[in-house]
Amino acid sequence: MSEQSFPICALADIPEGDSRGFSVQTPSGYQDIFLVRKQGRVFAYMNSCPHTGGPLDWVPDRFLNLDGELIQCATHAALFRIENGDCVAGPCAGQALTAVRVEVRNEEVFLLK
Ligand code: FES
Repeated sequence: MSEQSFPICALADIPEGDSRGFSVQTPSGYQDIFLVRKQGRVFAYMNSCPHTGGPLDWVPDRFLNLDGELIQCATHAALFRIENGDCVAGPCAGQALTAVRVEVRNEEVFLLK
């Protein structure tokens, strides 16, 4: 089966060093994901903490810790690397966020499935 892509947002919707959450419609239903833009790259993960499966944001679009260097779960403050989703502190240390494949095309971000 060939790969499909689904529009998420404009690249400009995610400021450098910031994050945004999205519910993306796909043929298999809505996928709750979030994007982080860092040093010109876009990283994408499912909005589901490996500790309980709950969402990571306590305020919409807030997925990063105060200095913006790590992803932080709102529920029990687990910390994850932006670059690969690895949990480096907290109750799910050693586990990882589920990465989502995205592509930037013509200044738009697409979910690939
Ligand atoms: S739900 Fe994320 S650290 Fe507990």
